[in-house]
Order: sequence, then C-alpha cells, then structure tokens
Amino acid sequence: MPAERLILRRPDDWHIHLRDDAMMKAVLPFTARQFARAIVMPNLKPPVVTAAAAAAYRARILDAVPAGTGFTPLMTAYLTDTTDPDDLEQGARDGVFTAAKLYPANATTNSAHGVSDVRRIDAVLERMEAIGLPLLVHGEVTDRHVDIFDREAVFLEQVLAPLLDRFPRLKVVLEHVTTRDAVEFVRAGAASGRLGATITAHHLLINRSDIFAGGIRPHLYCLPIAKREVHRQALVEAAISGEGPFFLGTDTAPHTVAAKESACGCAGCFTAATALELYALAFDEAGALDRLEAFASLNGPRFYGLPPNEERVVLERAPCTVPDVVLLADGDGVLPFRSGETLGWRYGGAV
Ligand code: NCD
Ligand code: ZN
Repeated sequence: MPAERLILRRPDDWHIHLRDDAMMKAVLPFTARQFARAIVMPNLKPPVVTAAAAAAYRARILDAVPAGTGFTPLMTAYLTDTTDPDDLEQGARDGVFTAAKLYPANATTNSAHGVSDVRRIDAVLERMEAIGLPLLVHGEVTDRHVDIFDREAVFLEQVLAPLLDRFPRLKVVLEHVTTRDAVEFVRAGAASGRLGATITAHHLLINRSDIFAGGIRPHLYCLPIAKREVHRQALVEAAISGEGPFFLGTDTAPHTVAAKESACGCAGCFTAATALELYALAFDEAGALDRLEAFASLNGPRFYGLPPNEERVVLERAPCTVPDVVLLADGDGVLPFRSGETLGWRYGGAV
C-alpha cells in the first residue's frame, strides 16, 4: 500500500525570488511556512550588489517574516563586472553573504547588470575560491544565435567546464538544471564534492510541450525554459537518486498577472504557494517518496556546510487546492503554478 504520510526533516529552499515591497509581503509567508532557510536571489531592481545592500534587504525580509515561523533568509551577492572582492569577502565574514550569483548579462529577468564575460571576474572568483564562498550559476549562454533550448547545454561546455578548470576548488551550484546534459555534467564532477545542482518542482512536472498545450501558457514560461520529455525524465531520475549533488531549489519567481499575460511576458513560475506538495507529487509519481528527505532536507545543507534542520514536518496524501490567485496589497495579483487545481498531497506543518 502506498504511504499515506511522509515525515521528514524541515526542508530548505536553495533558490528563491522574494522580490520586495508588496510582492515580498504577499509571497514570503508561503516559503516561510514550509522551509526553515532559503537562498534569496539578488536580482532586484536595482540588483543587490554590495554587502550593505544585502544586509538592508535581509532586514526588510526579516521585518516581513510572519511571527513564529523562524525563517532564515540566506543572502546572495549579484555579481557584476565591477564587483569588489573586498566587499564580497567582508560580507561573507560578517555572515551577510552565503553565496554569490552569476547571471550572464541579459540571460533572464533583471539580469541586465550581470557579468558580460566571466573572465572579467577572475579576481572575484579567485577570492571566492580562497574563502570558500559558493558561486551560484544561471547556466545559460546569452548568444541569441544559440537556440533557446540549447543554451544550457552550450553553457556547460563553453563556460562552466573551463571555469571549473580555472578554479579547481571553487564551490559551484548549477542552478535550476533543465537538461540531461546538465545532470550528466554534475554527476561527472560529483567526486570533487564542490559541484551541486538545484532542481525546481516545475521542471520535474512539465516539459516543453506543456507550455503550448491547447494554446500558449505564459504561466509555464520560465528560464531556463522547460525542455523535452527525455530531459524531464533525467531530472526526475536525478532528484530521486538521493545523490548528494542534487537538492531542492524551487526558483519560485513571482510576477504579476499583467506582467505574465502580456505580448512580451516575463519568465518565472510562482511555485511557493504549494512547493512541497508539488515535489511530493513528482516523487510519488516516480515511486520514490522515501528519497524526498535527502533531496529536500539533507543534500543542500551538506553542500553548504550547514547543519540539517532538526524539526520534522509532515506531508499527507490528502486533497490540497492551490489558490486561484495570490493578491498583493497594491491590488495586483500573482497566479500560482497549478492555480486552482487540487493536488493529491498536502503539507501538514510541524510534527
Ligand atoms: C527568474 C526571475 O523572474 O527573477 N525567472 C525565471 O524564469 N526563473 C530569474 C531566473 O532565475 O532566471
Ligand atoms: Zn531564479
């Protein structure tokens, strides 16, 4: 008989977009309810570049955390061509920065200030390697001549492999992997213990055909874009493998309905409303619920050198209806992934 309940250590989310202001206030409670810690992406407008800006952003987040959740945001620096290695190091020493994020310029939402050529930040990467600060990578090339479905695979070969060779001790997380190529690449580098990868819930659940099922579905458009079914299957296989380098990172990326449903819609899926339920669905479908804890609660802390959470939470096989829309105080709304649908798993809180 299939399991009806699953108890696991409280998980962490190793990749989220919290935004700021009204949006942050609306979306943060969902993440804080399920996860103990989360790596907060720095692609605000303007981006979070300095330790001072990250400390101020962290204070705004902590101000908005619902009482009693005990949620800890882990901050990241947005790397630019002119990032100051001393500021980064000081931020890391002061416990402000947990990692730094590499956005190739113009690869995705709010990345115009990103790094124009990774070789320009060698001094920064050298320093990160020396102090053990992990580099989080949006792994897509930005050359518009490279097909959008190939941008991750090309990045592995053209940018990531040489970067790993140049900095043999730098810790790197390849964020939101979407291809079999990336899974194989991360596995090949697994022995070093310094290469990890996050996998989103939506990439475990949809393939590229779903984006066009019966018409164009802007709420399923994210970057990196979902790929063919064989790639989705490779991601599921990696997530349920229990292998150390693969861990949970939702990449929950809220945009207003108006920004998504537009002639030029923004990239990003808002999955935080039912993040654990979505992962449970994917693991259940693969018959691997017993591996969810490794992926969601153990592998990430081990990679980051942090203790796993002691608290236990429960997931139950029970109906859970995804909210139709999450309203912001300023009148806008955000549509959750699987908006209005009833999922077969429900998060039951701490046990
Ligand atoms: C993210 C966002 O909206 O900030 N969008 C997305 O599609 N994932 C940026 C990112 O992580 O690429
Ligand atoms: Zn992201």
